[in-house]
Amino acid sequence: IPSKITKIACIGAGYVGGPTMAVIAQQCPHIQVTVVDINEKRIADWNADDLSQLPVYEPGLPEVVAAARGRNLFFSTDVEGAIRDAQMIFMAVNTPTKTFGVGKGMAADLKFVELCARQIAKVATEDKIVVEKSTLPVRTAESIKTILESEGNGLTFRVLSNPEFLAEGTAIEDLYKSDRVLIGGDEDADGQTAIQALVDVYANWIPREKIITTRLWSSELSKLTANAFLAQRISSINAISALCEQTGADVDEVARAIGMDSRIGAKFLKSSVGFGGSCFQKDILNLVYLCHHFNLPQVADYWEQVVMLNDYQKHRFAKRIIDSLFNTVSGKKIAFLGWAFKKDTNDTRESAAIYVADELLHDRAEIHVYDPQVKAEQIYADLEYLQKHRRTNSHSCSEQEPITVDEIRSLVHVHNDAYTAMDNAHAIALLTEWDEFKHYDWAAVYQAMKKPAFVFDGRNILDRKQLTELGFNLHSIGKG
Ligand code: UDX
Ligand code: UDX
Ligand code: ADP
Repeated sequence: IPSKITKIACIGAGYVGGPTMAVIAQQCPHIQVTVVDINEKRIADWNADDLSQLPVYEPGLPEVVAAARGRNLFFSTDVEGAIRDAQMIFMAVNTPTKTFGVGKGMAADLKFVELCARQIAKVATEDKIVVEKSTLPVRTAESIKTILESEGNGLTFRVLSNPEFLAEGTAIEDLYKSDRVLIGGDEDADGQTAIQALVDVYANWIPREKIITTRLWSSELSKLTANAFLAQRISSINAISALCEQTGADVDEVARAIGMDSRIGAKFLKSSVGFGGSCFQKDILNLVYLCHHFNLPQVADYWEQVVMLNDYQKHRFAKRIIDSLFNTVSGKKIAFLGWAFKKDTNDTRESAAIYVADELLHDRAEIHVYDPQVKAEQIYADLEYLQKHRRTNSHSCSEQEPITVDEIRSLVHVHNDAYTAMDNAHAIALLTEWDEFKHYDWAAVYQAMKKPAFVFDGRNILDRKQLTELGFNLHSIGKG
């Protein structure tokens, strides 16, 4: 098994593969890093001269790419060539939740991972280390290894689990200063050699004591558990937000008070319209599926509640808009500030905005969206995708008829300017916590809106005192 790494390949040039490999290349000038993808457009965008057009929007990413691209960082569609040359291959392909068949709506769809493994086995001519970077169900490494060894012409492969903990929007910062790097591998001698080879890569910039090595399954399970715990904190505070609204308590005050207990901690206690992103829901549903598989229904139900509470939070927000607007939003102009699942990213996967919009569209609202980074086509695609792939046990409009593509196109308007989106609106719904929203000319916005002028702040970032004094009818999360 290779012990010294000079060439790395990464399959998958998405939100995980792109930034991670860019940072490895920047920090390790002696290692050649090639990122490959079957999506030609994506690779072309990674190679474009105009660094503001990279396929992933991340603060700091253009600078890192500028430093390393063409030197020891390459983006290519030649998947086989990259695999053949590299001693170490990262798998960073997408693992969506299955939309059909066994485990539909819950289990991770591993078809991309399996295809990768087969491709590696097919083209490899030397022993290789394969690193799983995508979030995967526990014991996937085992399946990857089985495929590699059965198809791999007698070569030796070692599979490592190296879960990604970076958060979007702060990916580069997170990669520079990780809380920890986790590497899981086999306990035999080859397994230990493989682990050491990857430790040596990270040790170029991560202090050694922050690099933890474990057995394979602990590493795989840690990733799911970390995301489940983080999501659980948000659902816990969101559950309390509902109670605050009824009792006159203020959820931000409660969060501050409990967060000062060092056993609880202050981070990840921001109540919101609901968590989104490609990881939290998917990983929890994955965990739930795993628990059922091992006949642990109580454990499965415990974690599933975290997702159900999140569905409820999104639904509650939409319902509050409809209730406040005198029980109907039909034909009313609702401005959406933000569509991304959080600020500083153009990623919209599982964004709360999609679900809130969907509920309002079922009531025939006219939605005018402004997001500083998300493109119009993405917004339409998100709404259309939801009509086809709705989770059956979610709280939203599951029993209702899907909205047609034509209806979506006629009811949803996307703006490049926030003020035109808000002009003459009945209500504003703030879905993403982009900083610029705080600094708008709210007096002018108020003048241009229909009265009463409603604002639903799904992130609690607006100045309550200022907006109320201007005359807005402001609804925040968890404020009675
Ligand atoms: C998450 C994990 O943080 C990261 O470690 C893992 O590798 C991938 O999944 P990410 O999905 O990029 O990262 O974003 P994160 O910052 O965790 O936010 C997830 C969602 O929770 C967002 O919709 C965010 O707005 C929401 N959130 C987060 C809250 O509503 N309140 C909070 O206090 C924190
Ligand atoms: C608790 C709160 O800590 C305290 O802030 C509050 O004022 C009163 O309730 P206490 O019940 O005295 O204090 O003990 P605590 O140390 O919190 O432990 C409670 C239980 O949880 C014990 O049975 C303990 O063994 C158990 N525990 C605690 C665990 O099983 N695992 C842990 O990691 C921590
Ligand atoms: P993530 O957030 O996990 O990075 P993305 O969807 O952003 O997910 O990126 C995954 C990338 O992996 C996509 O660009 C997709 O085209 C690519 N991909 C999937 N399967 C393969 C494969 N067999 N070979 C090469 N690239 C693949």
